[in-house]
Amino acid sequence: EQRSYWNGGKFVKYDGFWIPLEILRPTLSTQKYFKAKDSDIILASFPKSGTTWLKALTFSIANRNIYATIDQNPLLITHPQEVVPCLEFNLYLNKENPDLQHFSNPRIFSTHIPFKSLPDSIRESECKIIYVCRNPLDQFISERQFVLENKIQNDTVLPLKLEESFDMFCQGIQVTGPVWDHTLGYWNVYLKNPEKVLFLKYEDLKHDITFYLKKIAEFLGCPFSLEEENQGVTEQISKLCSFENLKNLDVNKTGYFTGVMKNSSFFRKGEVGDWTNYLTPAMAERFKNIMESKMEGSEKDAVPLE
Ligand code: A3P
Repeated sequence: EQRSYWNGGKFVKYDGFWIPLEILRPTLSTQKYFKAKDSDIILASFPKSGTTWLKALTFSIANRNIYATIDQNPLLITHPQEVVPCLEFNLYLNKENPDLQHFSNPRIFSTHIPFKSLPDSIRESECKIIYVCRNPLDQFISERQFVLENKIQNDTVLPLKLEESFDMFCQGIQVTGPVWDHTLGYWNVYLKNPEKVLFLKYEDLKHDITFYLKKIAEFLGCPFSLEEENQGVTEQISKLCSFENLKNLDVNKTGYFTGVMKNSSFFRKGEVGDWTNYLTPAMAERFKNIMESKMEGSEKDAVPLE
C-alpha cells in the first residue's frame, strides 16, 4: 500500500508501519545484515521524540571511563547524530551491508524501526534497548518544523497545510507511524522484560535529568559510584548534554547531516507543550480520543498526553 506524503514523496506501509519509500531498502538491509552483539546498546524512538538528547546522554554515560575529563568528550566536537549513528537512516542508507568493525565496544546505534520489525539479533541477543517517547502532539509539531526548516520537500509540491498534515497524523500516517503501535510495541516488551527495554519519556527527562541519568547507567550495568557522584560526574554529563549547551556548540550550529538535514535543526526549542502554540484544543482533543481508543488503556502510563 502506498500513500503520498506531504513532502511530495511516497510512504509505503511495511509490516503495518508507514515509512518513506527511500527508507524501505535500508530497513530491509538492516534486518538482513545487522548482527547485534550482546554488548550493543540500541536507542529506539519515534522520530523527534528526543533521540539526539538520548544519544548524547547514553554515549557520555557508557564511555565516561574512557575520557579523563569531560573536556575530552567527543560530543564537544562531533554532532550527536555522528557519535551515535542511526542504522536505517544513516549506516544502511547508501550501503547494503556496511562494515561496522571500527565501532568500539559497547557499540551504540539508534533506530526508528518498530520493535516487531527489528533484526532478529537485536530482539534475541542480550543487547539492551532504550526507548524514548514524547507527547505525540509535541512530536508532531517538532517533526513539522524540522521538515519545514530543512525544506525536505519536493520542489514542485508545496508542503501540506497544517490541517492536512494533522489529519494524516491522526490516521497514523507519519514516518514509522502509527505512533500508538510504535510505542505499544516497545512498551509491551518493557512490561514483560524490563532488563531488555528501558522505557523513557522526554517529559520525565526534562523534569529530573539526574534521576534518569542514574537510571540509564544502572540499566546499562554501569551505575555511578558514590565517588563519581561526589566528584559531580552526573552534573557534568547532564550539563554537557543539555539543550542549551549542545545547541550552542560550534559543531551543532553549522553543516549538514547526511547531506539534507541541517545539524542545527536537531536543536529547535527543546520544550514541553510547544504544541499549544500551533494546535487548537479541539485538534488536541481529537487526537487524544484516537490515541486512547488505540492504546487499550496503556496510554495513561506509556504516553505523556498533556
Ligand atoms: P523541538 O523541535 O520540540 O525543539 P530527535 O532528537 O528525536 O530528532 O528530537 C528532536 C527534538 O528534541 C527537538 O524538539 C529538539 O529541540 C529536542 N532536543 C534536542 N536536543 C535536546 C536536548 N539536549 N535536551 C532537550 N531537548 C532536546
